[in-house]
Amino acid sequence: MAKKKYLIITFGCQMNKADSERIERIMQVFGYQKTSDEKEADFFIINACSVRQSAIDRVYSKIKDLKNKNKKAKIILTGCILKKDRENFLKDKNVDFIFSINSLKNWQEFIKEKRRYFWQEKDIKDCKYLEIEPEYSNNFSALIPISFGCNNFCTYCAVPYTRGKLILRDWRKIVKEAEKLVNLGFKEIWLLGQNVNDYNFKIKGNKIPDKFKKIIKNKVIDFATLLAIINDIKGDFWIRFTSPHPENFSEKLIKKIAKSQKITPYLNLPLQSGDDEILRRMNRHYKAKDYEKLVQKIRFYFKKYRKGIEKDPSLSTDIIVGFPGESEKQFQNTVKLFKKIKFDMAYIAKYSQRPGTIASKFKDDVLSQEKERRYKILQDLLNKIAKERNKRFLNKKVEVLVEEVKKENNFFWCYGKTRHFKSLKFKSNENLQGKIVNVKIIKADSFGLLGKLL
Ligand code: 5AD
Ligand code: SF4
Repeated sequence: MAKKKYLIITFGCQMNKADSERIERIMQVFGYQKTSDEKEADFFIINACSVRQSAIDRVYSKIKDLKNKNKKAKIILTGCILKKDRENFLKDKNVDFIFSINSLKNWQEFIKEKRRYFWQEKDIKDCKYLEIEPEYSNNFSALIPISFGCNNFCTYCAVPYTRGKLILRDWRKIVKEAEKLVNLGFKEIWLLGQNVNDYNFKIKGNKIPDKFKKIIKNKVIDFATLLAIINDIKGDFWIRFTSPHPENFSEKLIKKIAKSQKITPYLNLPLQSGDDEILRRMNRHYKAKDYEKLVQKIRFYFKKYRKGIEKDPSLSTDIIVGFPGESEKQFQNTVKLFKKIKFDMAYIAKYSQRPGTIASKFKDDVLSQEKERRYKILQDLLNKIAKERNKRFLNKKVEVLVEEVKKENNFFWCYGKTRHFKSLKFKSNENLQGKIVNVKIIKADSFGLLGKLL
């Protein structure tokens, strides 16, 4: 009998992408075959995200679209989905199954039993599924989750409810996976967590292998120590991570990052707001001034410990505009800080009320046109600042990891990211996908660089 075919559609962040790589593997273990043709799939697996209503809306329209194209296929919904959103999806007849990601190994059983809904809610702590060997989506850049969930309870955020409290993956498993990937020739490793600098693994007993005894002091692996261990793996590869929280970002950690040359000079440091009162109501535990000082320290240590263009790391952030009660003056505090810090990149979001979060009890009183106006002000500012910041690369030689190529006539357009996480394209006679090559920057726009292969 021909194998049943599946197709995975992923929404949301890199954590969801890492989860999809595990779904991919399990579907194959179950005996299903991957397809990229929507018309011939027997199962669509939608890995959804509840962080903003707009993402949920996109899931609904995708479901409709898929059912229009392929009526017979079953739809399995999973991911980072809030309870209220799940309840609503259950009302949609087009959704055949809803399963939590941590019950992945049991999906086939559920399908056979025609069980429409299974969500391991109370025991969401179970993150054993992370140990399922992922089906990496390519052979040069890998995502390695280091933790699951989050304890921060920022008042607007769905994550502590969808993924539950923070659980740490065992450091030895993380290091083993990184070592394996480097040996396989991977060029880039992403360490993932909702809040990576909360990593703090307590070693029980006397289980520290000799080769780590020099790095591991006092039987605790914090994020700085984990980075040090991975930076020590022999090989030619880059280390990236996302996302840290500005709270508990110690000087020790900054120094470790700046000194570890495999760690790329790129940091996504979510600010969310530049106003102290809004930050307090977001439960962010820092003030605008603390954030500013943190950025100064990061820039100071990169200048001290790195060479050439690496002395000036690129800094990106996440901002929410139109949080409940955000006045014009409070928004202007964000604008001021935004101008002062000069971010290379910002992921700007309009506040979206999420059912069940603490902020859902606050009145969502900034009108949507006003959110749009504030969004546009920051976006325009970002375009200007990013273009200005990108000029520092003009005529400089940079390394780029080629992620995609498109053949055009007798040459290839190569698309990739620099160590500063800048998007870059250049022409080449060869297909350089998966390779790190040197390129000279000949043009710099707000969100992209044009290079010439050296
Ligand atoms: N509304 C708008 N943006 C949000 N984010 C998280 N929750 C919300 C929300 N309710 C943004 C934050 C976070 C990023 C992943 O998504 O900026 O850093
Ligand atoms: Fe959400 Fe805050 Fe945790 Fe980030 S740190 S996942 S914004 S609760």
